Amino acid sequence: MSFEKNPNRHRLIALDHQYVAPAGRVSKFDLVVDHAKDATVWDADGNSYIDFLASASAVNIGHGNPHVVAAIQQQADKLVHYISGYFYHEPAIELAKRLALLAPGNSPKQVSFSTSGSEAAEGIVKFARSYTKRSVILTFQNSWHGTTLGAASLSAIDANMHRDIGPLVPDIHHLPFPDPQKRFPNETLADFSKRYLDDLRDLFQHDIPADQIAAILIEPIQGDAGIITPPNDYIQGLYQLCHDNGILFCTDEINQGFGRSGKMWSIDHFNLEPDLMAVGKSLASGMPLSAVIGKVPIMDSLASPANATTTAANPICCAAGLATLDEVERLNLPQRSQQLGEFAKTQFLELQQDFPIIKQVRMIGLNGGIEFEATKSAFVTALSEYCFEHGLIMISTMDHILRFQPPLVITEEEIKTGIAIIRDGLQKLA
Ligand SMILES: Cc1ncc(COP(=O)(O)O)c(C=O)c1O
Repeated sequence: MSFEKNPNRHRLIALDHQYVAPAGRVSKFDLVVDHAKDATVWDADGNSYIDFLASASAVNIGHGNPHVVAAIQQQADKLVHYISGYFYHEPAIELAKRLALLAPGNSPKQVSFSTSGSEAAEGIVKFARSYTKRSVILTFQNSWHGTTLGAASLSAIDANMHRDIGPLVPDIHHLPFPDPQKRFPNETLADFSKRYLDDLRDLFQHDIPADQIAAILIEPIQGDAGIITPPNDYIQGLYQLCHDNGILFCTDEINQGFGRSGKMWSIDHFNLEPDLMAVGKSLASGMPLSAVIGKVPIMDSLASPANATTTAANPICCAAGLATLDEVERLNLPQRSQQLGEFAKTQFLELQQDFPIIKQVRMIGLNGGIEFEATKSAFVTALSEYCFEHGLIMISTMDHILRFQPPLVITEEEIKTGIAIIRDGLQKLA
């Protein structure tokens, strides 16, 4: 798009580069978001885009949902903020109850609020260490748990998240993630799972004693890694190993929760109850709210005020969270995600047939990774740029995978139009 057609964009981006530090940015393309509705976004120059990103899976119920907007406005009129660590307010109490009941499994749960997903991931470390009186935390390669010091220590997707900020939080180690693409030729999923679990047992025996491990934290479906679903056998085995060794089994649902994967929680695909889980992003439709949800004895083990912050459980954010949950349920979004995900998958598979440069189409719910060869990162960047210039927000992840995470209220028509733009881009660039 030309400079003349986009004067606001260029003026604002120049100012951003002057005053905003680059560390907080994962630059994709020059979109200056002005306003948005459902699955459509408008930029500062009035151009519209179909949204295949949903603000990084933070607005599952779509942009500008009237029920959420009204809840925010009404709560703002009543009370903008009062520190919830000192006193009480109803939106936080109501939301804690809803989340405790919504979490998988039947054990009684409690909730501890914070503002970002990163803080919730760090919260898991604190609750787990406090309960078990052990220090080691295991997470996975290619995981994204956030960028505060503790969450960056948990993450292992981009070495720039660790560069020059060390020492990192000690006693955090990263296991290889069981990406089924890493199977040996002819290796079954069962054998592959067994191989990865045997390696973990070896680790317990030769490197890190299991009785010093507080928790294993996993994204049951890795998001930023490109929507990778591990084999069921592996997750069941991991859960059992945790159980047998007094290690807490903890999940990060920040990216995949609230219907994204076609079920309410990504761990629901494996029918397991985590000891602790972290939620954020779509919890309050992108308003700054996150939480650790966990079994009561574990949540009770951390002494006050170890997880209190001034702006946690802000009442406007909690009101937005309650309204968001209403809408997730009213619109039956997990089911819609599952059904439309099937529709999108068919369309992407057709694309793959016509363009074998696409190596793999993964889709679980409205939640997909469209993977190209790792050597094709420049091509994928150009394709994503082409999409942007033709009215589609579709970014890449891991440099060579297109990330498909639209608002769950997107229509079939919008999915088709968006994929047609990708097809045009492939035709022009391939
Ligand atoms: C799985 C997962 N965990 C944690 C985070 C961190 O959340 P936040 O960016 O709100 O700190 C993210 C963010 O992308 C994520 O995808």
